[in-house]
Amino acid sequence: MTLAETLKLAPVVPVLIIEDAAQAVPLAKALTAGGLYALEVTLRTPAALECIRRIAGEVEGAVVGAGTITTAQARQSAADAGAKFGVSPGLIDGEGVDGALPLLPGIATASELMRGMRAGFTHFKLFPANVVGGVSALKAFASPFPQAIFCPTGGIDAKNAADYLALPNVICVGGSWVAPADAVRAGDWGRITELARAASTLGKR
Ligand code: 3PG
Repeated sequence: MTLAETLKLAPVVPVLIIEDAAQAVPLAKALTAGGLYALEVTLRTPAALECIRRIAGEVEGAVVGAGTITTAQARQSAADAGAKFGVSPGLIDGEGVDGALPLLPGIATASELMRGMRAGFTHFKLFPANVVGGVSALKAFASPFPQAIFCPTGGIDAKNAADYLALPNVICVGGSWVAPADAVRAGDWGRITELARAASTLGKR
């Protein structure tokens, strides 16, 4: 599956911070039951790679990715764990479109976008979206950079996601609101499925 195909699976890519590997499979099942299939497990906890391994092996319908990839080595480790895509908060020196794993690099400025396009990328995470201009920035990028497609992430929630999804250069949005830390900790999978279901009907596909 190409990165574009993955990002088109649903309007929202959940951004997940999982502390306990035992939570990975029920969390991923709760999200896919709600209609969100591309799942970003951030490499911010010691359990992250094990979570990716378990989701990749056990959750049918989930397309698991790794987030917070900041080095070539992390891109490789995520691929080795079974991730199908990677997300980075920024551009990684020396890492282009070809590599261990399809990569969605983060950009915040026109210059970064131009560097990313020179490295062969067409799809970018706008990060942190709400800080670097949000919907206005994406509208402003559309005319000079018609080939660039975005998954804005950072500060996006159920209230503002549709504004982003209405933009022609937005393929999906990323966000953590569909898997709140307290619900994950409590194992409140029903609440997470409800949040995912609501998110899956937002905006366009
Ligand atoms: C992140 O990398 O933490 C994402 O941007 C998630 O941001 P959010 O918590 O504001 O959705």
